[in-house]
Formats: sequence, structure tokens, C-alpha cells
Amino acid sequence: SQTRSHYNFVVQEARYTRLCSTKSILTVNGKFPGPTIRVHKGDTIYVNVYNKGKYNITIHWHGVMQPRNPWTDGPEYITQCPIQPGGKFRQKVVFSDEEGTLWWHAHSDWARATVHGAINIYPIINSTYPFPKPYGEIPIIFGEWWKNDVNKVFTEFLESGGAPNSSDAITINGQPGDLYPCSKSETFKLRVEQGRTYLLRVVNAAMNLILFFSISKHKLTVVGADAMYTKPMTRDYICISPGQTMDVLLHANQEPSHYYMAARAYSTDNARVEFDNTTTTAIVQYRESYTPISTSSLPFLPNYNDTQAAFNFIRSISGLHKYSNDVPKKIKTRIITTVSINTFPCPNGRSCEGPNGTILSASMNNISFQTPNKFDILEAYYYHINGVFRKGFPRFPPFIFNFNGNSLPMTLNTPRRGTKVKVLKYGSAVEVVFQGTNLVAPLDHPMHLHGFSFYVVGYGFGNFNKSKDTKNYNLIDPPLLNTVLVPVNGWAAIRFVATNPGVWFLHCHLERHLSWGMETVFIVKNGKSLNATLPPPPPDMPPC
Ligand code: C2O
Ligand code: CU
Repeated sequence: SQTRSHYNFVVQEARYTRLCSTKSILTVNGKFPGPTIRVHKGDTIYVNVYNKGKYNITIHWHGVMQPRNPWTDGPEYITQCPIQPGGKFRQKVVFSDEEGTLWWHAHSDWARATVHGAINIYPIINSTYPFPKPYGEIPIIFGEWWKNDVNKVFTEFLESGGAPNSSDAITINGQPGDLYPCSKSETFKLRVEQGRTYLLRVVNAAMNLILFFSISKHKLTVVGADAMYTKPMTRDYICISPGQTMDVLLHANQEPSHYYMAARAYSTDNARVEFDNTTTTAIVQYRESYTPISTSSLPFLPNYNDTQAAFNFIRSISGLHKYSNDVPKKIKTRIITTVSINTFPCPNGRSCEGPNGTILSASMNNISFQTPNKFDILEAYYYHINGVFRKGFPRFPPFIFNFNGNSLPMTLNTPRRGTKVKVLKYGSAVEVVFQGTNLVAPLDHPMHLHGFSFYVVGYGFGNFNKSKDTKNYNLIDPPLLNTVLVPVNGWAAIRFVATNPGVWFLHCHLERHLSWGMETVFIVKNGKSLNATLPPPPPDMPPC
């Protein structure tokens, strides 16, 4: 494993051909997917990001906890102002307990569609994996490809008030695979030797699609999620949300031949049923094999709308026991927040493409987050600059939702707009319950928190019921994740201790929901003790 402590990331356009047509896309160093970062657990690295593109950009290190280092975390107008065309930012990336797979991506408009790559975090030198050392390690990065320019897709989507255009293909390591036109010869091929075990470093970098993934005739053994090891779990398929990463062992223990791997969207959104039969493929090719592959041999995948199949898998993931003493038992700050799709009325004189002529939006606790566009929240907090954000993200949801079929009055569809953040005391034990709603469209939401790994202590369908559901929490071996999938018409509960001072973004990782306002910010107070004190910003913070 070749690790490095310095990287140069040049954000630049490059020509790529997919689905029989060529276009210019934004890349890092001309690569799609972008370069892989390789580190050992606990390393600190520096990445020089040069913006040679036409638009503002920022880069985020997804899942890297960055202790006391929010300055170079990356979300645009949350922790920094964007790097302007021609500009440069030297970003320090501080790894601590993470081990396994993470990823980096642009955190500015929809640039992350093509600006993303894997982060491999190896064990500390001279220590070992909690499983036999794999013979090979291979990134499996899922993405989405639009024939159109992604920036156009994004701006048209915001102007229309409706849903964005669906992508034209799911990709595996940048390729749509055998079943799409003009793609066959470039299909990603994983070459294996019979009898060996391989570590798949799986990243879901897709913009808007939760995915099922499986490999014909082979089982998948999940050993890690979000760069924390999990109890080994062997399954026929995995389910992975945008933002999530998984470490999966593949035993090449079948007849030497070619086998399909395949990915398909999981969604309860009826507007997206065009993905019903859209399957993206790649190939596992045994070295000793000469027989060609036949398309009849696609692996089993659950149906696109099979919520049971998704959550049977997700709820089975559990953490390694060595972490269980750290699960917070006494909670100081409880937050219950709804995560909803909403609508705004269409302004006079415009025609809007949301349901019944409205504008689609999204919210947490009925507040549709407005991202500042002149100054960032972290610098505003640090320098006491007023007018950029407001405290007072509400602690409890405005009302309880009813999933028993009674529809809610339309007035509840309309959220308030605001830049409301939640301030947490340094060191406080926090529980957050995300409550899905059935407003506009009941959906699953992959909620992601920057700056932390959190324990997922419970999931359920229907309304969260504090006295009943808290009794069933898993405080013994909950998984330690950075992204939790909140079930459709259900809830998920997480716990963490606020020991990382700074400004940390909390948002749905479905890009359209983030664009609509399903996000907020946790500010962990800058305290007096050394561990609680923020160091000053680096000298080259991009200017606002
Ligand atoms: Cu994958 Cu806000 O991040
Ligand atoms: Cu969402």
C-alpha cells in the first residue's frame, strides 16, 4: 500500500465519452472517478486544491472526523467560502479513529456528480485487519451519468420547481456496463484468482439513488461500514445509500468463469420507476477462465421498491464489541427532528413544475434551510459576525405525524425558510431522532453528519414513540456510522458525544433533497479546555 502525505488536486474540465456521446466534465486531475487517497489510520495529510475550472468549487473529505479542524472540512458556505476559478486552498485532512473506506467529493452545487474519489485507510503499520489479509483490494465506486451537462441539469431543476431529470445511467467505477449502448468494451472487469479473497471498497457516490448490489453465484461478507469495522455478515446482496461506504470481502470460490456484478436503484419514489429494470453491470473474471459471459446470468437483486429487503440488510449491521463501552447511556441533549419533502406556492407570474403547480422543497423540523451565499457559518461563528445564521433550530417537531392513512392538511406542506443552527455544549451526550413524514412523498433519507461517527441505536417504522422505542434501543453493539438511512414513513435514532468543536453540516445525502433544504448545522461550542479549543484558521482560507 502506497501512502502519501501530500496530494495535488487540480480541478479541471476533461472530455469523456459514455453512452455513445462525448462531453466535457469537471474532474480532479482529469480522472473520473478521481484519484484514490491512501493513508494509514491516524495520518494527517495535506491536499493542495487548485481550481482550474469555470465555477466556484470546494472539496469535502466525507466521514473524516477532522478533530478540532473544521476549517478544511469543505462544505460551501458552511465551513468556508468557495475556491474561486484560479484560486487555491491547501486543505489539511486529519484522520483519527477511521479505518476502512471513505471518500472525498465536491461540496458545491452538483459538482460532486463527477468530482469524487475513494479514500483507503489502512491499519496502522505493523497492525492487522480484524480479518485475514485480503489478496487484493479494489474500489467499487457507484455513480450516475447524465448525457446532459450536470450543471445544466442542476440549474434547470432549480428553476423549474419540479424534480430533477433522472440520470441516464448508473455507473460502476465510471462505466455503465454491458447492458447500455456503446459501453460493452469498457465494462469494469475485476480480475481474480480462484481461491483468493478480495476486499471490495464500496462507495456509493451516486447523486440521488440508494442502490442494491450483488454478484452472481457469490456471497458478500460485509466487514466494515463508514470506515468502522462491523461484525462480519454474509449476504446475497447489499443495500447502500449515497454517502455510505462499505468494506466487503469477496471469496473467489466458484468455477473459473465470468460472473456479473450488478447494481440497481432502490426507491419508493414513483417518479423514479424508470429505474425498475435498469441494471448496471460489471464483471468478475477468473484468471483461469475462457468461457464468455451470457446476459442470462445476472445475479439476484431485490425489486426496486422492496423496502423490506433494504431494511432487513441495513438493520442487521452491527458494530464490533470493542466500541460498545463508548455508547452514550445518559443523554444530555435530545433532538427530535422531522425530515420532510414540502412545497412552496409558485410565485405570481411563474409556472412551477412541482405537484399542483407548486415548488418542491424539503425541510428539517419544518424549516427549509437557506444556505448563506456571501459568508460562511464557521467564520461567522469564530469572528462573531452577525446576520449569517440564527440559533434556535427547534428542539421538537411542530406536530406528530400520522401514518395510518389520514392525510394531513395541505397547509402543513409549506415550511418556513431560514438559516437556523443548533448549538451544542462541548462534551454533551446527544441523541437525535430523525422522523420521516408522509408529506408530499414518503421517502427514505440517508442523513449524514460531518465531523463525527455516531452510533445508530434504533430504527423503526411509523411514529417514534419515546417510552416504547427507547426501551428497544441497541446499546450493546450498534454500528458506528456517518450516514444513517431513515426508513420511509419511519424513524432512526443516533447518539454521539459532542467532543469535536466546530461547525458541522447535517444533511440528507440525496442531492436533490440537500438542494431543497433538508439540512441544518450543529455548532459544537468552542470551549476553554485545550481539547475544546479551535485553533485559528489557516492563512489561505478562500476569500468571501
Ligand atoms: Cu458526503 Cu456533506 O457530504
Ligand atoms: Cu432525503
